[in-house]
Amino acid sequence: MQTITLIYGDGIGKEVIASAKAIVEASGAQVDWEVQEAGAEAAEKYGKPIDDAVLESISRNGVALKGPTATPIGKGFRSVNVEIRKRLDLYVNLRPLRSFEGVKSLYQNIDLTIVRENTEGLYIGIEKQVDEGRAEATKVITKKASDRIVKYAFDYARNMGKKKVTAIHKANIMKLTDGLFLNCAKEIAQGYPDIAFNDKIIDAACMDLALNPYSYDVMVAPNLYGDIISDLGSALVGGLGVAPGANIGENAAVFEAVHGSAPDIAGKDLANPTSAILSAAMMLKHLGMKAEGQRVEDAVAACFAAGKMTGELGGTLGCKAFTDAVIANMR
Ligand code: NAI
Repeated sequence: MQTITLIYGDGIGKEVIASAKAIVEASGAQVDWEVQEAGAEAAEKYGKPIDDAVLESISRNGVALKGPTATPIGKGFRSVNVEIRKRLDLYVNLRPLRSFEGVKSLYQNIDLTIVRENTEGLYIGIEKQVDEGRAEATKVITKKASDRIVKYAFDYARNMGKKKVTAIHKANIMKLTDGLFLNCAKEIAQGYPDIAFNDKIIDAACMDLALNPYSYDVMVAPNLYGDIISDLGSALVGGLGVAPGANIGENAAVFEAVHGSAPDIAGKDLANPTSAILSAAMMLKHLGMKAEGQRVEDAVAACFAAGKMTGELGGTLGCKAFTDAVIANMR
């Protein structure tokens, strides 16, 4: 029996995580849950958005399913997501993108994965105001972080039967930082002769993604470029509501919906739980429960193909009715 840390989070988190939990249980997966609280509501109750006990629970179980968390307004509060990523060294942000028959999207038959470096690049938070008219930010790229993210992308490609890894960079301009990332990627690629490798400059990659997304299989990118192409990629397959995500490290992984807490629709049974459900399916596969994870994905796909979907995708179902429809497809 695998124990999973379960964090409902804020706003629609309660609805979409309840949906994902019910579907995981209906898939036949042998799991139990350890519920922990984090986010703005937790901050109101306990004075901080995330307690060490939550991080300790994720570390001990090695895996968490998490709903969106809002960052409380006010000084001294760090984002729950940043805290989890930093403290548990979750260096991979994994965003598989697939289109579903029946869901309106710019392209059909998309199946590509973005592997984003999560710990360095321009997101290390070193900025300085030199004078009133000048501010500077520091970008850090290391061989250690570049090697491990590219290695993760190749191992993922191999495990998932993918054929090609593309490194995304701007090494023509940032010769030292992105140049180091690209050199690391080229070197690591030599250890994977069974997987094709190429590289693409970020601006050209954005145009390609919009015009010819089929030219990509697995994309690996430093932090900022990965952030941008992840959302661009979501737009190709029907938006953030259907795109799952995970933050993964050597010792722990947190699977979560990629959208926010959507306070405008919270508690109204209007949320689309697909992103949370597909994140949970990824989690099952990550835990070795491949058949159960696939069963969940197939059940979601069958709902969409039959026109069963939530309002924001053009359907008529609420969050609960959609959850029931997915479960019915697994019987
Ligand atoms: P949001 O993603 O919560 O909402 C943007 C728009 O999309 C809203 O109109 C919302 O109703 C709609 N929407 C989002 N998810 C939906 C779903 N599953 N089904 C149907 N409609 C959906 O982004 P926003 O408003 O910028 O952020 C709200 C809060 O969420 C903020 O406090 C933000 O910090 C937090 N947030 C947390 C994230 C996380 O924990 N991973 C990620 C993004 C935002």
